[in-house]
Amino acid sequence: RAVTQSSPVKPAHLPDAQTVTEVHHWTDRLFSFRVTRPQSLRFRSGEFVMIGLLGDNGKPLLRAYSIASPAWDDELEFYSIKVQDGPLTSRLQHIQVGDEIILRPKPVGTLVHDALLPGKRIWFFATGTGFAPFASLLREPETYEKYDQVIVTHTCRDVAELEYGRRLVASLKDDPLIGEMVGDKVLYYPTTTREQSPRMGRITTLLTDGTVFRDLNIDPITPETDRGMVCGSLAFNKDMKDVLESFGLREGANSDPKEYVVEKAFVG
Ligand code: A2P
Repeated sequence: RAVTQSSPVKPAHLPDAQTVTEVHHWTDRLFSFRVTRPQSLRFRSGEFVMIGLLGDNGKPLLRAYSIASPAWDDELEFYSIKVQDGPLTSRLQHIQVGDEIILRPKPVGTLVHDALLPGKRIWFFATGTGFAPFASLLREPETYEKYDQVIVTHTCRDVAELEYGRRLVASLKDDPLIGEMVGDKVLYYPTTTREQSPRMGRITTLLTDGTVFRDLNIDPITPETDRGMVCGSLAFNKDMKDVLESFGLREGANSDPKEYVVEKAFVG
């Protein structure tokens, strides 16, 4: 008699599948979504993972995405651009609650507290979807344990593109877990470059000419007190490195902590 194991027929599940729990479209170019978190996944706030969908050829189509939720959250959040002819985001932008995405549970990245030497103020410099790792770090208790002041700059083309970050920063004080630690430590400095708003211009220019320090009524950046994390386009990252080096800061890494770190935001 043949012994048959009672194995239910498996549906055609994706490898490393996670289920979408929430989708929010911010503009026609930007959306965020949340997915279930694999129980075994540990990560440091600020790190990224590879996520994606199955391609038409049946192979996973994956891209690096910063985790926008903090390490203590029981779901994972991502903040994405929509590129109409982008191989992944042209499809990813249509995901709905209950759909599955692929998530490789191997977090990595340089935008982590371990890569910086101790300091008094930490700066998060973002353009566009480069805000994502800072959405994680702004909800991370370690950020407030390590620094007296947290200065967040976000440069976008227009006002609508600032909304995800604006709401996140506004929610910090009321957060039951970290609200008290946050106190008055966070300074938020949003700027736009292509639509009129209270603060106009690229952050690189506003740092170089001292506008930021005057607007916020704070001392200029020095290597003794200031630490920086940078996340945006390739061109932005390069220009920000020059700006931070001009203030005397040096680039650090996990294995060699210094005064600032840089990572490219997902594009396309
Ligand atoms: P700008 O409008 O002057 O190009 P994008 O949507 O193209 O990713 O850009 C996001 C924001 O980053 C825009 O406001 C853009 O300004 C700004 N930006 C792009 N490149 C740089 C750079 N090299 N330095 C500073 N800001 C930049």
